[in-house]
Amino acid sequence: MKKLEEYIALAEKALNEIEYPEVPTGLYEPIKYGMSQGGKRLRPVLLLASYEALGGNPEDVLSQAAAIEMYHNFTLLHDDVMDNADLRRGQPTVCKKWNNNTAILSGDAMLTMASMLLLKNMPAEKIIKLSQTFNKAAIEVFEGQQYDMDFESRNNVTIDEYIHMIRLKTSVLLGCASKLGAEAADGESEKCEALYNFAMNLGVAFQLQDDWLDVYGDAKVFGKSIGGDILNNKKTLLLINAMNIAKGADKEELDYLLNSTDVFPAEKIAAVTSIYNRLGIDKICVENIEKYNNIALDYLAKAGLDEDAYNFFVEFDQKIMGRNK
Ligand code: IPE
Ligand code: IPE
Ligand code: MG
Ligand code: MG
Ligand code: MG
Repeated sequence: MKKLEEYIALAEKALNEIEYPEVPTGLYEPIKYGMSQGGKRLRPVLLLASYEALGGNPEDVLSQAAAIEMYHNFTLLHDDVMDNADLRRGQPTVCKKWNNNTAILSGDAMLTMASMLLLKNMPAEKIIKLSQTFNKAAIEVFEGQQYDMDFESRNNVTIDEYIHMIRLKTSVLLGCASKLGAEAADGESEKCEALYNFAMNLGVAFQLQDDWLDVYGDAKVFGKSIGGDILNNKKTLLLINAMNIAKGADKEELDYLLNSTDVFPAEKIAAVTSIYNRLGIDKICVENIEKYNNIALDYLAKAGLDEDAYNFFVEFDQKIMGRNK
């Protein structure tokens, strides 16, 4: 196995090999912009490392690594329209630098390019399985994104519904990345499933962290505007718990903040955050991050990987768990 930095470098190499048509520039410039803004490259790293963990040479699956990162970046273009977000990786989002129509159409092209990259340099006998794995996750992400939007206007979302939603919108793609790598390497099905479940549960912890960072992160490091979830009434684990726990004056204030349209954005963010602080919501979120990470590590331990591969994924997991961006 390689070091994490080496897999990231391989992922960047895979992305640099993508060929973009010159015109129409209005379609391809925003794609190149989105793809070259950096990002942690977690999904291609999972794919490349899973492939190597099950006996393959990661240089064989660079196109598939590029495909999963292209798909991820497509979801970000559309997600930023849906969440009306200004900033991504410390730079203006495509929908703000250009406009919503551009983000929609360039995103559509990225989804198609992802499907094409998935098939590139891949033996025909493996393509059906990989396409099935990819398409299943791809459509589950859309289901998750729909629930995420539906929940904005619902005030009775349960914790189970929230976990189901983030499994769909976020975790399945991490699971898919691992599974694609494992399947491309012709891994035994138990190992493919174990790696999928490791990445899935890590994905739950990862989205919980994302929601936590949206409140408590440092905008300069996180690269996204802090408080966006609060402004959109996103039913994060933080907000659901606050709604369940708040009593008396806190409950009245929270209800008012969620339903009123005449509170200034900065004031709403500050007021909701201070309710979270008073109720100890931060701690509940952190405990859940640990809970799902432990489930992930249990799956990893049972995956039957050799020691080198096991140690790599533990290091990968620790890197994610310590993240501030
Ligand atoms: C952002 O994903 C979207 C979520 C699922 C929270 P990442 O945090 O992996 O985004 P980049 O690619 O590193 O910017
Ligand atoms: C991420 O949810 C899910 C997808 C992009 C599919 P968020 O809306 O929380 O992601 P960020 O915070 O904008 O990256
Ligand atoms: Mg968003
Ligand atoms: Mg979103
Ligand atoms: Mg977020």
